[in-house]
Amino acid sequence: MSSIAFTNIETLVTNDSHIGDGVLGVLHGATLVVEDGVIAQIAQQIPSGVDSEIDCSGKTLLPGFVDSHSHLIFAGDRAHEFSARSQGEKYSAGGITSTVAATRAASDAALSQNAQRLLDEALASGTTTIEIKSGYGLTERDELRSIEIAKRFTDETTLLAAHVIPLEFKDDPDAYVALIIDSIIPASSAKWIDVFCDQGAFSPEQSEAILRAGIAHGMLPRIHANQLSAGKGVELAVALGASSADHLSKSTHSDIELLASSNTVATLLPGAEFSTHLESNLGRKFLDAGARVAIASDCNPGSSYTTSIPFCIASAVSLLGFTVEEAVLAATLGGAQALRREDIGQLTIGKRADLVLLDAPSYIHLAYRPGVNLIHSTYKSGRAVTSWQK
Ligand code: NIG
Ligand code: FE
Repeated sequence: MSSIAFTNIETLVTNDSHIGDGVLGVLHGATLVVEDGVIAQIAQQIPSGVDSEIDCSGKTLLPGFVDSHSHLIFAGDRAHEFSARSQGEKYSAGGITSTVAATRAASDAALSQNAQRLLDEALASGTTTIEIKSGYGLTERDELRSIEIAKRFTDETTLLAAHVIPLEFKDDPDAYVALIIDSIIPASSAKWIDVFCDQGAFSPEQSEAILRAGIAHGMLPRIHANQLSAGKGVELAVALGASSADHLSKSTHSDIELLASSNTVATLLPGAEFSTHLESNLGRKFLDAGARVAIASDCNPGSSYTTSIPFCIASAVSLLGFTVEEAVLAATLGGAQALRREDIGQLTIGKRADLVLLDAPSYIHLAYRPGVNLIHSTYKSGRAVTSWQK
């Protein structure tokens, strides 16, 4: 058995309001002991007999960030599209097809190397768990290889073959829906099934058929809803018991109420709001209605090309009306709930020791010092890691 003690922690965020102050369950001056990768003890004294000690004076220890929404299997970038938006162009789902062409042309090795590069960035920003979607292949071969590549990096893989209608099916979209249902889903080993239910993507009827086929195949549902226009995506998510409905920028009052009365997590994506100028500031409304809320990166080359959850936390505070505490909770415990994971998201006895150590005396600095890298080190199952591994 190996043990490590994190001692003299200036600010310890446990995310358990029963053991510390406020919603984040904050303790000052505590010691956290990890044994065999799991949190074994939280105390005010330094226990004897531990194998190693890490002095956390002046630093903040918090749960590793849980990024419950990313699209990391792709090739190329769309910097020109971002630049055009800064000159007034609107974001639309249409840009996705240029990434589809680049992704289809890329080798498995190139896609894997690109994902590794982005995951190393994410790790250096404090992310310890990540969900990864397919969705830039849009053929049976390319969707299935995207999932196989994603599985090298995470257990939280999501089939998003229903991202947009590929160009070769533009005159017969239902034939693509049939291909997803009859061929891609049955051959896929992804854990989750997702659909982009929105203007320019999939209709509520097509979305329901795809999600139900995924569920019948043993996958768990989640959805992209109300990103570009209000629609029926939230109703569908709640009716199917989806773990999460994501984006939600154009949600109606009744969508917000419906999510608040359900077990479906509202996952908000401040990086996409930042980079597509959607001018949505509904975040506060989900919180006030009592919905369970997560924030995630949505990292992808079109609408949100960031791997940084600290950036998303700062953006949630400045763009979406979150308090710093709500944003930190949403990026840790909220993400774990959106993935239905009980082993992560809190620093309490028995949870996995996935930790971020900040070179800052308080978690508030995550938003107070935007754009500054405050991450001292990131631990997965109690081990300091500098390159992403599953
Ligand atoms: O989640 N909404 C759909 N898909 C991505 C954007 C994809 C892209 O623009 O490449 C998203 O924002
Ligand atoms: Fe997305």
